[in-house]
Amino acid sequence: MLERLERLPTDPILGLMAAFRTDADPRRVDLGVGVYRDHRGNTPVVRAVREAEQAVLARQATKSYVAPAGNPGFNQAMERLVLGSDHPALTAGRVRTIQAPGGCGALRLGAELIRVASPQSVVHVSTPTWANHVPLLSGSGLELRRYPYFEPASGTVEFGAMLAAIDQLPPHSVVLLHASCHNPTGADLSESQWRELLPVFKQRALLPYIDMAYQGLGAGVAEDAFGLRLFSAELPEVLIAVSCSKNFGLYRERTGALHVVSESSTAAEAALSQLVRIGRSIYSMPPDHGAAIVHEILSNEGLRQSWIEELSGMRARIQGLRSELVRQLAAAYPQRSFGYIATQRGMFSYLGIDTPQVRELRDKHHVYMTDDSRINIAGLSSENLPYFAEAVAQVLKG
Ligand code: LMR
Repeated sequence: MLERLERLPTDPILGLMAAFRTDADPRRVDLGVGVYRDHRGNTPVVRAVREAEQAVLARQATKSYVAPAGNPGFNQAMERLVLGSDHPALTAGRVRTIQAPGGCGALRLGAELIRVASPQSVVHVSTPTWANHVPLLSGSGLELRRYPYFEPASGTVEFGAMLAAIDQLPPHSVVLLHASCHNPTGADLSESQWRELLPVFKQRALLPYIDMAYQGLGAGVAEDAFGLRLFSAELPEVLIAVSCSKNFGLYRERTGALHVVSESSTAAEAALSQLVRIGRSIYSMPPDHGAAIVHEILSNEGLRQSWIEELSGMRARIQGLRSELVRQLAAAYPQRSFGYIATQRGMFSYLGIDTPQVRELRDKHHVYMTDDSRINIAGLSSENLPYFAEAVAQVLKG
């Protein structure tokens, strides 16, 4: 049976990780997979995570199962972190949360929930969107379509076209939005754009499905949640998939959550019961460790402060690298303006070069990025930036 299976190409992002590991050139630069790196190129364990982890392990008395919906303390702490502790949807009891194996697990749970509720639903995703959104969402059997989002010439959101497209969608369409730090473009919706989208979602009875994988790495913990907090206060139903991979640095611990905002407490309870059933049929129950760490951090004021400080440091480092990158690219290749990179947010931006040029950077200069020229800004440092800017200039000069 299995001998007929075709060999698949490697994942566009994870394949790069593997290729980079086999490159022995000392000048190699990894701007591929989206993990935060410090100035030495390491992805350190966050200080608060280290401390929380020790406390959790010292206290742990069993390895028995957690619970089908996960760690209740984690779920509640995440609701408050994501929505803000006094959010009206929380006060009204309209929110339920299931712990998920990472942000990806949360996205898939949400897609499966939509399919159970309304199998004919179409999910509309931005052009472009994170490569893995497509298999994660369509893997549940839902149809995916695209709406315009990014204008390469200005490096900003093509908001007029986006709004017009969303304003044409049939009722009950699902629209996947990135809360902040848009992956792969780095172009985020402004607060006024979120406000302009809201009445369209209301009038057309659309379901916003919001992916928040970078809370705190864009403009700030509250700022990055502006749109989802607004939508959750004003709309009857919102799905929010959250990842703790980047902001807590818990990548391999697969820590995430799906928040369901429903019209009433009863409807929210029913949705949660469906999610528990869905989770049980895929992986049974979520892992404990990452969620226990996040719970510990968010419920201990000292650890929380330490985490917030470190997260602010990461955000400031990325923002500083953005400005420095623009400066060095302008010096190395003044013919083109890269100024948009400094105004974008989060880990990613497009360099705006074509796939053969991306390949040339990889093959000749040992610089790794995805074929669409998405770069992980956090992979840059004061050490590799001059080399990188010079390599880009050489490729652009042809
Ligand atoms: C990325 O976009 O590089 C990250 O979200 C990691 C991943 O799993 O793709």
